[in-house]
Amino acid sequence: MRRAKISIIGAGNVGATCAHWAAAKELGDIVLLDIPDKVGVAQGKAIDLWCCGPIERFDANIVGTSDYADIAGSDVVIVTAGLPRKPGMSRDDLIETNVKIVRSVCEQIKQHAPKAVVIVVSNPLDAMVYTAWKATGFPTNQILGQAGALDVARFRTFIAGKIGCSIEDVSALLLGGHGDDMVPLPRYTSVHGIPVSQLLPKEVIDSCVERAKVGGGEIVKLMGTSAYYAPASGSVQMAEAIIKDKKRIIPCAAWCQNEYGVGGGFVGVPCVLGKGGMEKVIEVELDASEKKLMDESVSHVKDLVGVVKKMFPDLA
Ligand code: NAI
Ligand code: 2OP
Repeated sequence: MRRAKISIIGAGNVGATCAHWAAAKELGDIVLLDIPDKVGVAQGKAIDLWCCGPIERFDANIVGTSDYADIAGSDVVIVTAGLPRKPGMSRDDLIETNVKIVRSVCEQIKQHAPKAVVIVVSNPLDAMVYTAWKATGFPTNQILGQAGALDVARFRTFIAGKIGCSIEDVSALLLGGHGDDMVPLPRYTSVHGIPVSQLLPKEVIDSCVERAKVGGGEIVKLMGTSAYYAPASGSVQMAEAIIKDKKRIIPCAAWCQNEYGVGGGFVGVPCVLGKGGMEKVIEVELDASEKKLMDESVSHVKDLVGVVKKMFPDLA
């Protein structure tokens, strides 16, 4: 049987950690690509990880490269190339530099891996997903952004911590862009089927919502750069659902035509992931206050995409 192939663009913190999780899950062969100046780093990390195979018991070819010809035949390409946040920066501050990087990366993906499902991770996430779509010209089902998988995992972790229960029993939903106005939904959060509102007081649930919203910033302040274990874990969770055609429902930045009243755009929503990439957006009922928060978040995403279009008219 043919092994699946995952290419990861950017061999920095998030990219190398994606390679780590993907290898540990034995998802397939892995290509770790970085710019020519950093090819030694990509190659060194690839060999180091490859040699974990006998200990961790995975069979995978793992190569480091700066040559896009090596990504040919990829089932999934994860794009982590770009600058990360530093203390005091918002995700949006990265826009100009990272649009240029993500655009150039995606032009190469279009040429060398035209069948791949692209999972964008670079920030500001929602603007980069739009950039990837424009630069590849791929159908919308082949373009996804990783944010919700991470943001909802943070929310679930904080809820489980407050209850003192297993994280495995906490299920939650989250909508919107990957910004401080993301929309965790306590009404759709349950613990082994029990609504979370029966297990925690409102103010504690609200504190978990707030902590999830600023979860990225909390880590940037502590480490001086952005998180990578959980972002990579979320990205590989998406890649696994696609490669194994699992039809998992995971919140991702995905194309919404009429769903959630978006009117055409990539926004964080729960979707079914399988062989076809983004196979279906799941629409849930929102009450008036949830809808207001979602509308505000969508409007911020649209503003960000507007900045991309203004800075780079050829991407409009
Ligand atoms: P990093 O600085 O550790 O790694 C970035 C890598 O991209 C570097 O190795 C760099 O050489 C490479 N790169 C730059 N230009 C490139 C190009 N043209 N082609 C190929 N590779 C290129 O940064 P880190 O921490 O890995 O973060 C990567 C991106 O992911 C950042 O934009 C960060 O903000 C974003 N991020 C997104 C998250 C999400 O949930 N969506 C969470 C965490 C980070
Ligand atoms: C995060 O949420 C900074 O987007 C990055 O950790």
